[in-house]
Amino acid sequence: MKASWNIQALFWAATTALAPRQADSRLYQPCTGDYCYDTNPLPPRFFPSLESKRLQVKYGPFTIPPADENNGHFKTYFRTNPPCYDCYLTAVSADLQYPNGTTANTNTNLSLHHLAVMNLVQSSTTCLDGAEIIFASGNERTEAKVSLDGQVPAGYYFNPHDLLVFFPELVNTAHVPQEAVIVLDYEFVPLSDLTAGAGFRKVTPIWLDVDGTCSPNGGSVPIPRGAGERFTLGMEPAWRSDVSGDVLFVMGHVHDGGTSVEIIRDERTVCEGVVKYAEEEGYIPTLGVHALEKRQGWRGKGKGKNRGKGKGKGKGKGKGGGDDDEGDGEQPINADRGAHISSINTCTLPGRIEKGDEWTVRANYDFTKHAPMLHGGVLAPVMGIGLMYVVEDGQ
Ligand SMILES: *[C@@H]1O[C@H](CO)[C@@H](O)[C@H](O)[C@H]1NC(C)=O
Ligand SMILES: *[C@@H]1O[C@H](CO)[C@@H](O)[C@H](O)[C@H]1NC(C)=O
Repeated sequence: MKASWNIQALFWAATTALAPRQADSRLYQPCTGDYCYDTNPLPPRFFPSLESKRLQVKYGPFTIPPADENNGHFKTYFRTNPPCYDCYLTAVSADLQYPNGTTANTNTNLSLHHLAVMNLVQSSTTCLDGAEIIFASGNERTEAKVSLDGQVPAGYYFNPHDLLVFFPELVNTAHVPQEAVIVLDYEFVPLSDLTAGAGFRKVTPIWLDVDGTCSPNGGSVPIPRGAGERFTLGMEPAWRSDVSGDVLFVMGHVHDGGTSVEIIRDERTVCEGVVKYAEEEGYIPTLGVHALEKRQGWRGKGKGKNRGKGKGKGKGKGKGGGDDDEGDGEQPINADRGAHISSINTCTLPGRIEKGDEWTVRANYDFTKHAPMLHGGVLAPVMGIGLMYVVEDGQ
């Protein structure tokens, strides 16, 4: 299914518009809908004097098909309430677990391929007519440190009528179906005289994507034809900012094979998310199907197509580079087969955003260094995403 998240969300909204909403916020439930599995309060880490709260919400369970069924991919979308109303979200991260609470990762043949969380009720800053993506995660599970670990009194504000839509995609590399739950770890402070006294400010998420700021293909773009083993995906057109403020936090996402993701302001890289692989056991797979495919060489099928010009067409601008097209009889690729992305570094306070700036994201891939993901023996689509949290002037 290749549809934009916005279209899926609108379709959902149209089909469920008549469902009654809980109007009284005193009866508020953060865990709602078919996929609510469990909630668990945790001790908050930030803003203890502002009545902060930390809440783990588990969604699911989802049954992910075995690797020989749709390549073990499971994709869905569902709605749920935000973790709180009239509150500032100061940090959020995602995890994938088994229903019994143990972590699921590539070493257990399961990965949180990606998750996008959209606030259906608020408008995107970068996508005209689109809803606002407030958080996204890949299997590297980067935490969105919206308040910089409590150093800045700022957060993403949830209004009483906000409604979240989750777009998860999970991947199973085992030969048997597996069940898992998606776990969101939310930390927030309720709106109060205390937060006003502390000068709390609202944060605007800014979404940049090599698929375009409206992510028409849900962020997944094909590798440009003839791109070779090293290539760069850009975002076209750039987004011209109509907001001004201070950028608090920047995070990025690429798929396996990626080396870095750059967030660029007026052709200058303001944040480089360097990608690291296999730093922890969870990211070193056992010999699952993906690993086996990788060992056998991902080039098998597309070999003939790797020839030709190093310039890609399509949504993302592709630029071939490096020493591709060496013809047959190439040596085995010296990539760290089977190792997966375990972290992508983030940036704090990289500077200002001004009206009229041009912002883009660039994703750099090098399959000679890190093996890419395959889908049915051919190269899977890739991603290049940048998400910034900005305190706008006057907020
Ligand atoms: C939790 O569930 C997973 C998947 O079924 C299983 O592999 C694991 O051993 C379980 N862990 C515990 C502590 O029960
Ligand atoms: C992962 O899947 C492979 C292939 O089915 C299997 O051999 C291996 O035992 C699985 N590993 C785990 C930890 O389940």
